[in-house]
Amino acid sequence: MSVIVPLDTQPKEAIEALLDAAFGPDRHGRTAYLIRDGMPWLPQLSFAVLDAGQLIGSLQSWPVALTHEDGSQTPLVMVGPVAVDPAHQKGGHGRAMMDAVVAAARAQRSEPLMMIGDPEYYGRFWGFTAQGTAGWACPGPFEPRRLLALSVDDCPIDGVGMLSPRIAVTA
Ligand SMILES: CC(C)(COP(=O)(O)OP(=O)(O)OC[C@H]1O[C@@H](n2cnc3c(N)ncnc32)[C@H](O)[C@@H]1OP(=O)(O)O)[C@@H](O)C(=O)NCCC(=O)NCCS
Repeated sequence: MSVIVPLDTQPKEAIEALLDAAFGPDRHGRTAYLIRDGMPWLPQLSFAVLDAGQLIGSLQSWPVALTHEDGSQTPLVMVGPVAVDPAHQKGGHGRAMMDAVVAAARAQRSEPLMMIGDPEYYGRFWGFTAQGTAGWACPGPFEPRRLLALSVDDCPIDGVGMLSPRIAVTA
């Protein structure tokens, strides 16, 4: 039987090995990695799936932002990579981790969620959409139809700018 647990209960090496298995070891050059370069993942919005005690699923979330022309930032939470061990895919584990992060984000009233992913999956089950992200640029190549966002507090998603790591702003 599988269980969902916080990702920070799992060893870093096991998480990296799972991501290599799901995406290949050349995954680090992807645009998604550039958007959250240097950021630590958010423990309260990151989850693992364990099956018989073994790590078979990983979902990380990151503090990122839409940086506007004047340098101001609109904070966002980037979701992904979402990875399920190839031997356990299509068993509902990806959906279970995504259900967990969307529920946690709603409960925490987090910033809007965003990701680069397939709308056929993330739109179908959770309502992620590219509507509202048309004004967003990325620091690497991306398909606009795969640049997705989901508001967790019913505030509309919009804005113009470049996706980037989030800079802590001092008051
Ligand atoms: C994508 C991934 C996270 C989905 O998790 P999973 O546990 O395998 O899938 P689930 O059991 O939750 O969902 C299965 C359903 O979603 C569909 N689905 C899965 N991935 C899909 C995709 N990329 N596009 C469209 N539909 C998809 C399946 O066809 C299935 O539909 P059905 O129930 O009608 O048959 C997983 O397959 C994976 O790690 N893939 C490799 C890495 C990757 O591409 N990650 C996503 C980018 S961040």
